[in-house]
Amino acid sequence: MIARTERLVLRPMTADDLEPLRAILSDPIAMTAYEGAFDDDESAQWLARNLRRYDDDGFGLWAVDLAGSGMIGQCGITRQRIDDDEVLEVGYLFRRAYWHRGYAAEAATAARDWGFRELGAETIWAKVRDTNLASMNVAIRLGMTVRRRFVVRYRGVDMPHLGFAVDR
Ligand SMILES: CC(C)(COP(=O)(O)OP(=O)(O)OC[C@H]1O[C@@H](n2cnc3c(N)ncnc32)[C@H](O)[C@@H]1OP(=O)(O)O)[C@@H](O)C(=O)NCCC(=O)NCCS
Repeated sequence: MIARTERLVLRPMTADDLEPLRAILSDPIAMTAYEGAFDDDESAQWLARNLRRYDDDGFGLWAVDLAGSGMIGQCGITRQRIDDDEVLEVGYLFRRAYWHRGYAAEAATAARDWGFRELGAETIWAKVRDTNLASMNVAIRLGMTVRRRFVVRYRGVDMPHLGFAVDR
């Protein structure tokens, strides 16, 4: 287990988590900021990339479990690039049925604090597409301010992004 909050447990994903992961990644509404739903291959690659991150970095996106409901989301710390800089980012994606209850901010607060504590990070970032208001509000709830603008090219599309960050 990585962290426990009032309502949630963050733990490493395993190969058994592909189904609940698909429930998030195959939802076109949840995946709007990623330019649409992932197919089964893309979801399997997403999981494989996360498992590789645990091996390579010792951290990644973790499964978020809610008692009685199983895995309702994913949240964790990943290494990311913003332009030429390498940063630590907190990421959060939840099943739509579990939005608007504060779970994302609760899990992301635990992931942010894990990054400060376990990695000694000076700054934790959130890369947010400029259309993703819900994600910006989570970043604001994490105490972040907007620090940068940049463009991410993903799935063949140039996506303007904002870089939110909070210092230790
Ligand atoms: C980004 C994402 C995780 C945000 O989810 P969210 O439900 O808006 O965020 P939270 O779980 O923190 O919930 C906050 C909401 O719960 C409400 N809430 C209800 N009970 C609450 C409680 N006990 N504690 C805190 N907030 C509570 C808040 O008022 C807030 O309401 P609002 O949605 O009307 O603003 C979600 O939209 C998502 O998974 N999107 C798809 C993936 C994605 O784009 N990820 C980000 C990539 S950068």
